Amino acid sequence: MIEVPHHLAGRHLTRINDFSSEELRDTLDLADRLKAAQKAGEPHELLPGKVLGMIFHKPSMRTRVSFETGMAQLGGHTINLREEEIGLGERETARDIATVLSRYVDAILVRTFAQEHVDELAEYASVPVINGLTDQTHPCQALADLMTIRERFGTLSGIRLAYVGDGNNVCRSLMRGASKFGMRFIAATPEGYEPRHRSIDETRQVAIQRGGTVELTNDPLAAVEGAQVVYTDTWTSMGQEAEHDRRLRDFAGFGVDDDLVARAGDDAIVMHCLPAHHGEEIEEDILYGPRSAVWDQAENRLHAQKALLALVVQ
Ligand code: CP
Ligand code: NVA
Repeated sequence: MIEVPHHLAGRHLTRINDFSSEELRDTLDLADRLKAAQKAGEPHELLPGKVLGMIFHKPSMRTRVSFETGMAQLGGHTINLREEEIGLGERETARDIATVLSRYVDAILVRTFAQEHVDELAEYASVPVINGLTDQTHPCQALADLMTIRERFGTLSGIRLAYVGDGNNVCRSLMRGASKFGMRFIAATPEGYEPRHRSIDETRQVAIQRGGTVELTNDPLAAVEGAQVVYTDTWTSMGQEAEHDRRLRDFAGFGVDDDLVARAGDDAIVMHCLPAHHGEEIEEDILYGPRSAVWDQAENRLHAQKALLALVVQ
């Protein structure tokens, strides 16, 4: 049976910063191990009978299906709690929901709008709370992204990643994660769409201490020069639909296409957390082309989250 370290038992993942670099590395190591086990047909029912309660206030395909499948493969179960049933912050407070759910389930996954609701659930839950995306952050995505980059390059330290597009939830969590592994991270966004991060200086310091960098620019062509990873995400995140037309105009020139990718390193891969908007932030020939790591990246959500669950659920 696969050995699972116990030092993360009971921990929340509300944001990437909840885990130290070493704890993130432990999670990625277990994720690699679980991926190999699944491919080899090796049994790995590490959470028999455990139950994950899942709260979704926004649509999801990858997050919901990968957590459901992951719990099933670990020998556990999931309960999907729809917005109308839970009414987080409306029908019932986050505190009361956290307290009651903790008496039933072994962990709580939540995808919602406000980061504060995830933080409040974590404050009052006596079981681990996992953030499945908020307006501010998407730590589970970052785990799978880091796993995918390490899988491709054999390391994270020193890898040059250019994030091109909106400085959104995915960008912020990736930037945080990259800094903790000493990656060279640059985000190219239009003016006004920079990753607004309360502690960007601190993130930069973390990167520098580990031999990495965190840079911001408004020039996508310069950003991808020599990059080993070109990363993009939608220009219009869930909840911003009314801004779609304005954003299309504001992001002109920031689409990941042949011209942009040609400036990256010869070994460069292209990543996208999905769902993709063909012809907007990414062109079809790139998404389906030889440099695309997008499908491995989506698959790795499953393995990275199984590792997280096995580590935090007691
Ligand atoms: N990348 C991601 O989180 O996908 P879903 O919105 O489909 O869960
Ligand atoms: N930034 C996107 C990510 C979707 C997985 C959003 O929040 O809609």
